[in-house]
Amino acid sequence: MEAKIEKKNKFELIEFEVEQGEVDKVIAKYRNKPGELLLILEEVQKLNRYHYLPMNTIQYIGEKLNIHTAKIFSVVTFFSFFNLIPEGEHCITICRGTACHTKRSRFLLEFLIDYLNIEEEINENEKIFITTPDRMFTVRTIACFGQCALSPVMELDGEIHAHMNTEKLKNLIEKIRKEEKEKKKKKKEMNSNDRKE
Ligand code: FES
Repeated sequence: MEAKIEKKNKFELIEFEVEQGEVDKVIAKYRNKPGELLLILEEVQKLNRYHYLPMNTIQYIGEKLNIHTAKIFSVVTFFSFFNLIPEGEHCITICRGTACHTKRSRFLLEFLIDYLNIEEEINENEKIFITTPDRMFTVRTIACFGQCALSPVMELDGEIHAHMNTEKLKNLIEKIRKEEKEKKKKKKEMNSNDRKE
């Protein structure tokens, strides 16, 4: 189900929900297991194309588990890996903790913002969560990954990258761009083949 929710980051956001049937399956899988709420929220978020938990989904889970929406909301806002707004197709999280800061993580973040042509004002003191207008990348910051010995650290689509520098970052972004281009090309070819048949 899709519903318009708000305009942000210069593009129209659409609420992409996971089908209720899929949510029901996840609930049935973890029902009455220790930590059921966290497990359900985590898996439902993973199923979401834009890796987030829309309000309607939170309300639905609350009704099914008989838990007040406010309680679920407080869980979702407490853990940094939950999102209330959509992420891009690829998420880059830069650590801004002390160990990473001393190894120039701020420079890495500035480079990334610039390289992705993000024009928004960045407030260095706030947690950053910005998605590029094409929804290809989300740039986020985190207080510490707990991997300080590997600083500066960043995460790309759930994978930790140690001792980062701008060259490595640039290569990773270009690799993703190339792969996405290939994917689009293949999709186009498949569509045109379907039309011919
Ligand atoms: S400060 Fe970056 S991983 Fe701890």
